[in-house]
Amino acid sequence: MQTTFVMVKPDGVQRGLVGEIIGRFEQKGLRLVGLRQLTPSLELAEAHYEVHNERPFYPGLIRFITSGPVVAMAWTGVDAISVARNIIGPTDGRKAALGTIRGDYAMDIGHNIIHGSDAEETAEFELGLWFPDGVEDWTRLDETWVYE
Ligand code: RTP
Ligand code: MG
Repeated sequence: MQTTFVMVKPDGVQRGLVGEIIGRFEQKGLRLVGLRQLTPSLELAEAHYEVHNERPFYPGLIRFITSGPVVAMAWTGVDAISVARNIIGPTDGRKAALGTIRGDYAMDIGHNIIHGSDAEETAEFELGLWFPDGVEDWTRLDETWVYE
């Protein structure tokens, strides 16, 4: 089992997609172990996107992600990191396949609705950052039907 960090970005919240997005992860069979809505502080946004801090799009990215509420989530499941990335789709919404969240809802690279951790170390780092008090492990009864 893995736990991954997923965040509905300000555009996804403003466009009323939170329920739809949570539903997709939930219906896939992932287990929701953390959930909080907040407007990220500058410090939090800069820590989260530190890996991009030399990139030309970084200032705009920080302005965007701190512009309003985001919904931070932690999802658990077998291979949860890559499963979540597949549900989300590639960065550019215009190129993402229909059926992915970005393919269905995004028209842009910057305003691309949602974030998902891209590797085990990243997931661990991001979960610690956004859920400093940890996440809640619990038993989802239908997992005996989700997994063989
Ligand atoms: P994310 O980290 O948000 O899940 O997205 P990602 O892995 O698909 O993309 P990444 O390369 O990590 O970039 C992080 C976010 O920066 C914005 N971006 N803008 N204007 C641009 O060229 C550009 N490139 C990246 C996007 O919002 C992207 O999700
Ligand atoms: Mg990324």
